[in-house]
Amino acid sequence: MTDDKAAKTSNKMWGGRFAAGPDAIMEAINASIGFDKRMAAQDIAGSRAHAAMLAATGIISDKDAEAIREGLLTILSEIESGEFTYSTALEDIHMNVESRLKDLIGAPAGRLHTGRSRNDQVATDFKLWVRDQLDAFESGLEALIKALLAQAEAGSDWVMPGFTHLQTAQPVTWGHHMMAYVEMFGRDLGRVLDARKRMNESPLGAAALAGTSFPIDRHMTAAALGFDRPAANSLDAVSDRDFALEFLSCASISAMHLSRFAEELVIWSSAQFRFVTLSDRFSTGSSIMPQKKNPDAAELIRAKVGRIYGANTALMMVMKGLPLTYSKDMQEDKEQVFDAADNLMLALAAMEGMVRDMTGNREALEAAAGSGFSTATDLADWLVRVLGLPFREAHHITGSLVALAEARGCDLPDLSLSDMQGVNADITEGVFDVLGVQNSVNSRMSYGGTAPEQVRSQIARWKEILA
Ligand code: ARG
Repeated sequence: MTDDKAAKTSNKMWGGRFAAGPDAIMEAINASIGFDKRMAAQDIAGSRAHAAMLAATGIISDKDAEAIREGLLTILSEIESGEFTYSTALEDIHMNVESRLKDLIGAPAGRLHTGRSRNDQVATDFKLWVRDQLDAFESGLEALIKALLAQAEAGSDWVMPGFTHLQTAQPVTWGHHMMAYVEMFGRDLGRVLDARKRMNESPLGAAALAGTSFPIDRHMTAAALGFDRPAANSLDAVSDRDFALEFLSCASISAMHLSRFAEELVIWSSAQFRFVTLSDRFSTGSSIMPQKKNPDAAELIRAKVGRIYGANTALMMVMKGLPLTYSKDMQEDKEQVFDAADNLMLALAAMEGMVRDMTGNREALEAAAGSGFSTATDLADWLVRVLGLPFREAHHITGSLVALAEARGCDLPDLSLSDMQGVNADITEGVFDVLGVQNSVNSRMSYGGTAPEQVRSQIARWKEILA
């Protein structure tokens, strides 16, 4: 709800030198309250910490600080219950809160803004908001990784085709494929934790840009707000939005990973593949085709990446070329981050739900694993290992055998020994041992390879990391 009868003359927070109020268009382009009200809780936390510090350093009286801190709590409950009336004339969340504080407690409200500016205030509020999102991002990734680990554990030895160029390449295990995504989301987790550590410095007390002549204690406010330390340069503190950009770039990379998996789920759940069955809870039907069960959640996750990259690019563009320090351009940081955060959290949660609920179709996976000459490399390796042929020659012989099988319309294990000996007379019965897909995956015991034993040891490692 907005009430703009308030200040049609000059702005009551900064209008001292103004004879007239802003044009309606000026007000519309200038106001951020429509979106920055999402930072109300952070704004109030920052102001409460600032007021406590002003009293502790003797800059304002304990009595005023107490009135301010209490009043701010009242405002928080008004906001939470939806009673609070936002005013566009008051521009942003900072001035809306301060103005309401004046209504509630009178003159002491005017002392809150001592030794700070909206420039350090907004940087602080926004950092606190982004920090909460990094924490939610971390939990979302952890939940998704756990869902993937459960899938990997259930099917650590199920065979399926591994692809390059989306063409059948070599058999792999279901567990191995799930664990590939664990590695990807695990790196995302690492980036989130790095970004959080780097961003955790408090801008509060940098004031407008140059610091303040009041004897403030920035270490105290930093600690009260859970920051590791105050930011060391006041000019940088008010003009830095790297923390938002790091969030958006972490989000972009993660969204890219989500979209790759989403794409696989779309393909895998099709009637042509049938590798997975998605649960009813994470599928939709068609209003005309009764047989349809559509992977909409996966498709939307695949698409969400667009707006998240968009937000990252948009904020990069806003920030490039800005001279130090604060410029109003920077008010354009928030909507992008809010939208990206909302959609990222939704995508992570939807992916986690889909992965938790989906069923890998073991038979279909296994049938597909053996098709497309997927053990041709095993055959070539056998020729090298047993007959001592150079790999290039083994590759060529195998190619001829594949062509033979293709001409016969069968797979490699369906060729007879005499078919094989027609291509190379030294081939023996033992070759058939390596043409089965289970033997093929079991043999890939190199570190990080697809053998079930390797997969299980990676699952154990990740469980330890998360514990
Ligand atoms: N609404 C502004 C923003 O989001 C707050 C800071 C305004 N500072 C100023 N000097 N006008 O960036």
